[in-house]
Amino acid sequence: MKEKILEIKDTALNKINLVISQDELNNLRIQYLGKKGEMTSVLKQLGSLSPEERAETGKFSNIAKQEIEKAIEEKQIVLENAVYDSIKEAEWIDISSPAKKAKSGRLHPITQIQNELENIFRSMGFGIFEGPEKEDDYHNFEALNIPKDHPARDMQDTFWLEDETLLRTHTSSVQIRTMENVKPPLQGISPGRVFRYEATDASHENTFYQVEGLMVGKDISVANLIYVMKTLLKEIFKKDVKIRLRPGYFPFVEPGFELDINCLICSGKGCSVCKQSGWVELLPCGLIHPNVLKMQGVDTEEYSGFAFGLGLNRLVMMRYGIDDIRHFMGGDIRFLDQF
Ligand code: DAH
Repeated sequence: MKEKILEIKDTALNKINLVISQDELNNLRIQYLGKKGEMTSVLKQLGSLSPEERAETGKFSNIAKQEIEKAIEEKQIVLENAVYDSIKEAEWIDISSPAKKAKSGRLHPITQIQNELENIFRSMGFGIFEGPEKEDDYHNFEALNIPKDHPARDMQDTFWLEDETLLRTHTSSVQIRTMENVKPPLQGISPGRVFRYEATDASHENTFYQVEGLMVGKDISVANLIYVMKTLLKEIFKKDVKIRLRPGYFPFVEPGFELDINCLICSGKGCSVCKQSGWVELLPCGLIHPNVLKMQGVDTEEYSGFAFGLGLNRLVMMRYGIDDIRHFMGGDIRFLDQF
């Protein structure tokens, strides 16, 4: 009988050793120590032994039983620790550590201000018009009173494409497209990207943004132009900004003006953005040249109009105190993150 007990014990210990799950361990506990378990049924036969043998075998079997119990208990702890370790690795979190900040995207500062401008102009009854970035000679130059070989073509260094089209050098081309589609009276703006074939520095880029505007109606004069420009600047800078108006030459306006604002980067003291002058050219504008209106079939006896071409990059630079126009296309997240 002792041998039988020893055999049961040895197999039990072996099996317990190999167990890898809680369920398996529970089954072994029942198999060996349960009421109908192997050990128990052997012990039931103790009655058939002589009193001496019974005492000895009883003792022997108790020790074996205790060994099995101990092995199961130890294995139980090993299994629990393993579960805890895997939770610790996979799911355990330090709730006291500072949360990681989720990085959120945002609109480019140019887009933000463009949206603001669109709202300001919409509130004044202007529509929003769009035109293509890849333009033809007619819309970019000719219809704007800049015929071929006109010296004014040199004012805007142009990226010509192989099919004799070009990357628009200004949003003024959309003035023409607007007048082709809408009969006066009309008023609208066209924000968009423009391109110049030129070297870059702190205040020049080959790719930048403009907001073109035009208003055609009865009795439109310079007074209307100045009123709209002042309203725009006040809304965008949230304060009255010092401006000055100089005569300026653009073939598509007559008279033409350069509207400058007092440099907000250096408060007029002189810096790299205003080229030490204290003033920044921001808003070239004027009354639409009769040639331009006539080419679009507008009766210049009845209608007149004004137009302007706002430099959007410069406006954003003034608004936020940005001192280099090249930041806008630089794609540096550290720059973009600030807006
Ligand atoms: N298109 C001109 C440029 O990019 C700017 C301009 C000047 C637009 C006068 C206008 C204007 O509408 O009236 O240099």
